[in-house]
Amino acid sequence: MMIKNETLSVIKNRRSIRAYKEEQITDEELQAVLEAGLYAPSAMNQQCWHFTILQNKEIMDQISESSKLVAKTFDNEHLQKLANNEKFHIYYGAPTVIIISGEEKALMSDVDCAAATENMLLAAEAIGLGACWINFTRFAFASDKAEHYRKTLAIPEGYSPFYSITLGYKKVETLNAPPRKENIVNYVK
Ligand SMILES: Cc1cc2nc3c(=O)[nH]c(=O)nc-3n(C[C@H](O)[C@H](O)[C@H](O)COP(=O)(O)O)c2cc1C
Repeated sequence: MMIKNETLSVIKNRRSIRAYKEEQITDEELQAVLEAGLYAPSAMNQQCWHFTILQNKEIMDQISESSKLVAKTFDNEHLQKLANNEKFHIYYGAPTVIIISGEEKALMSDVDCAAATENMLLAAEAIGLGACWINFTRFAFASDKAEHYRKTLAIPEGYSPFYSITLGYKKVETLNAPPRKENIVNYVK
């Protein structure tokens, strides 16, 4: 019989949400998500992450535009298609974005930040929020406005913005998970 467990259900039910209601999430909800990020594992317990809470639509719009300008130059059909779509906003209208930056000098800060990011996505699902992992943000930091964004977002010196997540109330209910690939486990006993 399959083990039934709330955490396992949350992991299985989490989907990337790409449509949000305008209403802002509560501070309690935000704090719960942040705390889940803070409790992620990190290499040698360096906890070398920094979280920026972005709730300013104007700045979100600017980052989206800069990021799309950079994505247009990539040799990747999927990214180019998104970047050339005027209606595409990298944050899908979410009222809150968390940018996860990692300390450049740390041992494996990108991996630590990925663990924190996933923890926050799961926490969001656990408390009924919609969320999506957004890689697009980092493209804006490869644009000519990179320094401007670093200052505006007060990213600490020596940290690089690696990932981000959108957060908000889901506008649409989640669909089933895409099928899982087969034959990816082997046992050695
Ligand atoms: C490293 C990483 C970067 C991602 N970047 C984006 C992104 O920029 N925009 C987006 O809409 N989804 C992004 N996603 C979400 C994936 O598209 C999504 O997880 C995948 O399609 C599986 O769908 P699911 O999350 O609903 O299971 C990213 C996911 C990961 C792990």
